[in-house]
Amino acid sequence: MRTILIALVVAMPLATTPAIADDSLCKKLGGGDAISTVVKSFLSKMRKDDPDKLGRFWLYRGEDGVQREEQLIVDFVQSATGCDRLYVGRNMTDAHKGMKLSKKDWERTVGFLRATLDDYKVPSALQDDVVALVGTTRSQIVECEADRFGCP
Ligand code: HEM
Repeated sequence: MRTILIALVVAMPLATTPAIADDSLCKKLGGGDAISTVVKSFLSKMRKDDPDKLGRFWLYRGEDGVQREEQLIVDFVQSATGCDRLYVGRNMTDAHKGMKLSKKDWERTVGFLRATLDDYKVPSALQDDVVALVGTTRSQIVECEADRFGCP
């Protein structure tokens, strides 16, 4: 009897807590699948960029590594926006250390992000929320404030 009671007490909050909160960015953006579609489209823009700009990071990369990275970024964004998703990748500092990402690289990335959100007709106030959330990672990713691609 005691075991049943303990099981009920543990299970009840799980049963009553919605997995994805109504006011979460995940919900506002249309859920995990919508986020996955948008992130994949955004990454495709990044990969197709000129080789002397952001495209330099995807020159000669193996297909499997690129797919792994894509899935991790989808997981990261789903998790950060409040979808019921576990991110098991590295932290942003370790994942980008030594890539010499500059202010200019960052600004171009945000430009691609906005363009992708435009493609999917995401309203500008919601875009601002997404850009602000992604912006919380900037200090862990950007290594210099140079106004050129890459740091010297
Ligand atoms: C500023 C431009 C960015 C560039 C050029 C860039 C590039 C990359 C590259 C090349 C990798 C693969 C690293 C590897 O395989 O070792 C990577 C991994 C990753 N990036 Fe970025 N990134 C950028 C910004 C961001 C932002 C803003 C986020 C989050 C919102 C992010 C999230 C991730 C994640 C989750 C991984 C996978 C980590 C892991 O392998 O454990 N990146 N990034």
